[in-house]
Amino acid sequence: MNAIEILKTQHRELEELFDRMDGVKGQSREERRIFRQLAKAVEEHAHLEERYLYSEGQEVDCAATLEGYEEHELVRIMIRKIKKTSTKDGAFGAKVKVMREILQHHISEEEDEYFPLVENSLGEDRMEQIGLELEGHLNRRQKREHKQELVSEQTWAA
Ligand SMILES: [Fe+2]
Ligand SMILES: [Fe+2]
Repeated sequence: MNAIEILKTQHRELEELFDRMDGVKGQSREERRIFRQLAKAVEEHAHLEERYLYSEGQEVDCAATLEGYEEHELVRIMIRKIKKTSTKDGAFGAKVKVMREILQHHISEEEDEYFPLVENSLGEDRMEQIGLELEGHLNRRQKREHKQELVSEQTWAA
């Protein structure tokens, strides 16, 4: 799959997790659980983008790429702040909302401007290749997690 398609699919998954957060408002334990999933998905997405796309996008449009890095950093700061905030604290919801606004703005800029720019410059073939690299990374991660699950199951059984 083309790299942009993979990254856009991840964007939709992130939006869905934010919607799920909205759906469990007031249920502390669920909010915390879904937020953990969301934080992990955001961190992985940003890491993948930086490693496989921004690294090449930097040559295409340096300023836009640096802006992207800064926005990722802002979102990471929000994640750290939210992790330290109790779900029972009124500020928890406010922080999640601001994080969503920052991320939504970032996603729109990527999809409307940055991705098309990088794709036009690097070309279809290169985007397919980067897509394969992304898939390889995701597959390796999935295998690693599966292994960890097996180990923790064995630990439980012992
Ligand atoms: Fe991004
Ligand atoms: Fe993104």
